[in-house]
Amino acid sequence: MYHVSDSNARAFVEQVLVGNGVPKHNAIIVARCLVEADLRGVDTHGMNRIPSYMARIREGVLDAQASPTIRRISPAVAQVDGHNGFGFLAAHVGMAAAVDMAKNIGIGMVSVKHSNHFGMSAWVVQQALDAGMMSLVFTNSSPALPVWGGKSKLMGVSPIAAGAPAGKSGRPFIVDMAPSVAARGKIYKALRRGDKIPGEWALDKDGHRTDNPAKALEGVMLPMGGPKGSAIAIMMDVFSGVFSGSAFAGHVTNPYDPSKPADVGHFLVAIKPDLFMIIEEFKKRMDYLYQRVVGSNKMSGVDRIYFPGEIEDLNKEKRLRDGIPLVEAEIRALNEEAKRARVAALVATPLPVKTHL
Ligand SMILES: NC(=O)c1ccc[n+]([C@@H]2O[C@H](COP(=O)([O-])OP(=O)(O)OC[C@H]3O[C@@H](n4cnc5c(N)ncnc54)[C@H](O)[C@@H]3O)[C@@H](O)[C@H]2O)c1
Repeated sequence: MYHVSDSNARAFVEQVLVGNGVPKHNAIIVARCLVEADLRGVDTHGMNRIPSYMARIREGVLDAQASPTIRRISPAVAQVDGHNGFGFLAAHVGMAAAVDMAKNIGIGMVSVKHSNHFGMSAWVVQQALDAGMMSLVFTNSSPALPVWGGKSKLMGVSPIAAGAPAGKSGRPFIVDMAPSVAARGKIYKALRRGDKIPGEWALDKDGHRTDNPAKALEGVMLPMGGPKGSAIAIMMDVFSGVFSGSAFAGHVTNPYDPSKPADVGHFLVAIKPDLFMIIEEFKKRMDYLYQRVVGSNKMSGVDRIYFPGEIEDLNKEKRLRDGIPLVEAEIRALNEEAKRARVAALVATPLPVKTHL
């Protein structure tokens, strides 16, 4: 294991992006979003995604130079066209517009079309939280999940995410979850690290449960809660795909497939939390909810109950302090990209081996 500081990680990702033709101001945004995932412990959607994104740029299916454009539809509604640039940019511009509209009239809704994978949804939720806003963050994604009763991939493991500002606890509500038993990125991570996966995550191509990540990737992810997970995946496709004018119904391209543009859609809403009461009252109620949740009677074997998003917030506190852990193979893959882009290698510190005296 190695450690990388968040500032070194951001600087590295920025220079690889710039080396691949991404304008500096856009590279700064993409790097911040990717490293935010690493900091929150969502390693599946952090800087390790760089090689697959760069492959898409090299194959000409993701436009490194594109910047999103925005069209106002009504005082509360806007539409973003990602022009096949990074999903991070389209979602960032979209949420900024949603926040502006919410500040003025209480709510802002943005539909995003012709976008790409935007990684971890929680960074978009955090963008709204930083402006004091509640939010809904939906996206669709490439087929990975059968619909309930089906046996082949059709829907994406498209995450549903939402947020609400914290009270005095300092712990905002951040839910960000894929409608599969586990996110597909966790299978890619197991494959990279040579790990097995739990048997309930996926089926192989013959429909059998498997603990082998390579076989799981040839098969299908299992939806969480059977038909309920399948319904949420379809919901993400209705709001992000059908509604926006982007690809839908199984036609979004996998971010690891550099053969054609992805055409992802997103659906973003920002909401002012003090629409129905003063902000102090809202925050007091959030505090009460937090205390009720984390103070709940624990089932046997549970040491601590967490609020949604809290584990990731704690990870971030630790990783800002100690750095982001990466294995050697991940660093090697990132440095291959540095070599290709003719930029400096990632600065990583080997973790000290623990001695027990
Ligand atoms: N952009 C895409 O196309 C795409 C597709 C799939 C997944 N993803 C990303 O993958 C990431 C991982 O998704 P996931 O479904 O595996 O997440 P997860 O299962 O790790 O967490 C889901 C939610 O449950 C909460 N949670 C987890 N453990 C908890 C506990 N012990 N107590 C209380 N709350 C807890 C988390 O805070 C989170 O809000 C997400 O960030 C998601 O956005 C992105």
